[in-house]
This record gives sequence, C-alpha cells and structure tokens, in this order.
Amino acid sequence: MNALSYFRRKPAEVILHEETGDLKQGLKRRLGAFDLTTMGIGAIIGTGIFVLTGVAASRYAGPAAVLSFVLAGAASALAALVYTELAAMVPVAGSAYTYSYAAMGEIIAWIIGWDLILEYTVAAGAVAIGWSGYLTNLLQAAGLTLPASLSAPPALGGIINFPAVAIVALIAGLLILGTKESAMVNNIIVLVKLGVILLFIAVGATHLNPKLWTPFLPFGWPGVVAGAAIIFFAYIGFDAVSTAAEEVRNPARDLPLGILGSLGISSLLYILVALVVTGMVSYRLLNVPSPLSFALLRAGVPWAAAAISVGAITGLGSVILVDIFGQSRIFFAMARDGLLPQGLSRLHPRYGTPYVIIVMTALMVAAIGGFLPVALVAELANIGTLTAFVLVSLGVIVLRHTQPALPRPFKVPFFPVVPLLSAAASVYLILNLPRLTWLRFVIWLAVGMVLYFSYGSRHSRLAGGEGVSLPNVWLPAPARKELSSEEPGPAQTGLTSADNDHEPFREKEEDH
Ligand code: ALA
Repeated sequence: MNALSYFRRKPAEVILHEETGDLKQGLKRRLGAFDLTTMGIGAIIGTGIFVLTGVAASRYAGPAAVLSFVLAGAASALAALVYTELAAMVPVAGSAYTYSYAAMGEIIAWIIGWDLILEYTVAAGAVAIGWSGYLTNLLQAAGLTLPASLSAPPALGGIINFPAVAIVALIAGLLILGTKESAMVNNIIVLVKLGVILLFIAVGATHLNPKLWTPFLPFGWPGVVAGAAIIFFAYIGFDAVSTAAEEVRNPARDLPLGILGSLGISSLLYILVALVVTGMVSYRLLNVPSPLSFALLRAGVPWAAAAISVGAITGLGSVILVDIFGQSRIFFAMARDGLLPQGLSRLHPRYGTPYVIIVMTALMVAAIGGFLPVALVAELANIGTLTAFVLVSLGVIVLRHTQPALPRPFKVPFFPVVPLLSAAASVYLILNLPRLTWLRFVIWLAVGMVLYFSYGSRHSRLAGGEGVSLPNVWLPAPARKELSSEEPGPAQTGLTSADNDHEPFREKEEDH
C-alpha cells in the first residue's frame, strides 16, 4: 500500500453530510449559550478540583497551586478557541478525531482517536476513583468504614477500589437503558456542584490562616509548572461542548460563549478554591482522597464537609456519564469509518443504544478505576488530551489552507498566532509531565499503531475496505442544503467512498 494512502483525508463536505443514526436521537433541540455553558460546567468540574487540587498543592506547587490553575487554564483557553472554530465549521460527532480526518488524514485521525481514549476512558477512570474517595469519606463520617482492601488499588495497599468499579457499572447500565441526561437533570447536577463549591469558598474563607500561604513557592516555578501539568485535568471536558455543535441555535455566537463561558467560570472557581484550601490547611497535609472535605473537617465544620462530599458524589457521577457517552460516540465514529470493527457499533435491539461499545468502554474504565491510583491515571489522561490539543491546533492551520472556502461561523482571532501558541502551551505542559507518563504514552501509541496497520488501514471505508457498507451515513443534513447545492455530497452524486473524487490522496488499494 502506498504510504500516502495513510494520509487520505475525509473531505469536510462529506463529513458534513454524515448522520450518526440512533445516537443522535433526543439531541434535536436547539441549544443556546446558556445550555452550552451548563453542559460545559457539567463536564468540566470534577475530580480535578475535588481531588487533584490536593495532589498539586502537596506534591508539586504548594500554595502556588493557584498559579498552576492559572497556567493550565490559559493553555486550555487557547485550545478552546481552536476547538470553537472547528466545532462550528464541522459540527458532527467525533470531535477532534473527525476534524483531523478532514485536516490531516487518516493516520493522524487514528492517532487522535486512539489518543482520545486516554481523554475519555482514562479520565472517566480517574473520576471514578475521585468518586470513590468522596463516598468512602462520607460513609466514614456516618460510621461505616470500608475495608482498605476494597477501597484502594494494589499500589496503595488495597486489592481493588470497589466503589469505583460499582459506579462505572451503574452508569454503564443507565447508558445502555438509554437514560438520557436530560437538560433538566444536568442543570440540577450543575447547580449542586456550583452550590457546594461556592459553599466551600464561603465557609473556607472564614477559616483562613494567611500564614499558611508562606512560603508561597516552596518548590519554585518548576513546581508550579509540574502542578499545572497535573491540574490540567481539571479543565478537560470543555471540548464536550463542541460535540453538541450541531444542535446549536447560533454557532458563531453561542459556541464561543458556551465553551469559553464554561471554561471561564470553572477557572475562576478553581482559583478561589485553590487559594482557600491552601489557606485553611498546610499544603503538606493535602495529599488525601477528598481534600476539600478534609479541610472543612479540620476547620471544625463537619456539616459543610458532609455537604461537599454529597455534592462531589453527585457531580462526579455526571462527569463519568458524559465521558463514557463521549467515548462511545468517538468509537462509533471510528467504527463507522471502518477503522474499528463495525460490529462494535451494533445497537441494542430493545433500547437502541450502542451497547457493545458501552460495555467495552465500561470494562476499560472499571479496570482503570479499580486497580490504579488517581494521579497516575490523571497524568495519562492529560498527556493524551494535550497531544490531541497540539494536533488539533495544527489542524486548524492546515484546514485554513486546504479548505479556505468552507464556511467558518467562528474564526480563531489573531490567526495563526493563537493556534501556534496553543500548540506551544500544550507541548510545554507535556514536557512537564513525569517521564514515566511519556513512556506509558509512547507504549499506548505503539499499540495503537500496530492496530492501525494490522486492521484500520485495511478496513478503512475511505480505502474501500471490504464488507463495509455505506447506507445511512451519507444522508445530507437538511440544515446544510446551501452547501450541498454548491458542492454535491455523495448522496447526490451516488458516489461511494471508494470512488470519491474529493479525496486528494485517494489511492487504489490493490495490495491488501
Ligand atoms: N475535568 C474533569 C474533572 O476534573 C475531567 O473531573
């Protein structure tokens, strides 16, 4: 097979005509900036602030963890601008995977898709661990102590983190039954989450001991940056908003407001929480599974500690749900393109949900949550997400050149400075992750490459892979009529992917 065929690109105008079938049911309503902002907050606020604040402060940055939050937030804001342009331009399922298929070709899309498993599945594992920490803490407060062997991974002296496995099983069950995360339920969860964080800030602010803020930089600037590289986890999730782009009323206005709004609100809260918690307890003591409750308990406010635990348990559950759902959409898009076996996207005969993918994802999340410590898992999720940010930031530049005519309802300001800065900021954070995380990441990518060359590249629908059918996925979306009348998609032309002439690097696949 010619090496160039690995870079075959999926034409953006073809992507625009794709439908995701049953997965899109229930997503027809028209979203505004407010809905997007609550959705973003629902996906963003989780283990990062409730758990990793303690890790970042105690192990890396000290009281300057607040600066780590600012730094990671700035890198995320730059990437958010890039995602907004792409989401508004290519508003379909699959997020960064789909954008890069159009911008940089199949092999890069595969790498990003493989990489996004780290963002969604591995992050869901980290959030399940955070959930377990708060549950264990709450049960303890009620006089019920779980044996350590059942509430900690082997590396921390236990056998299995059972609550983490249990919550994943529960959520996967809900997703298979097709329980929709309705806007109302999400809004309530977001309100609870925001409520307990504001409660923490308000109560904590009355128990401050400013002496604890000095020395402010016990580990210097390197500590701040290393802290930012782990705390970056707290910002993961804003791109979930981009996956709703297709349902947005006014993408040019609402997407930037929703993505940047949810990021802005979360950042502000994170900064305040970091300041308060390091002013309540010595940073040295914060390496615990539920640092915010811990700080309030030590301050002698057990009712507030209990409220935080209840809020965290509720709020983290929704992050796991969104992550598993997001992962199933990305797998679905990859299976649809033939890069993963199409059997994976089989829908449940009764519930109409992609149950094979959900079960597979849940097994991976449960294995991660049950047997690994949170910091290790979060670092892996971070390196995966940051790598996706780098590739997507470069992708936005490539697409401006290769697809200059595509309508862009939102454009990254100060092009190409912002995407270049975004890529640089993500690389900077990657460089500050532990070497061991790089090594794990490289192994992960290598496994992905083996799978791509042994399966994906041969079954890719763009390569005319065998046994791959096209029905249902080439339907033109009515909303894109203008585009389809200018540039006929395959539904109009009767083209299949195998003879698609939009594809600059199309090769005949004779040799496999
Ligand atoms: N940002 C999400 C969290 O902190 C992934 O849990």
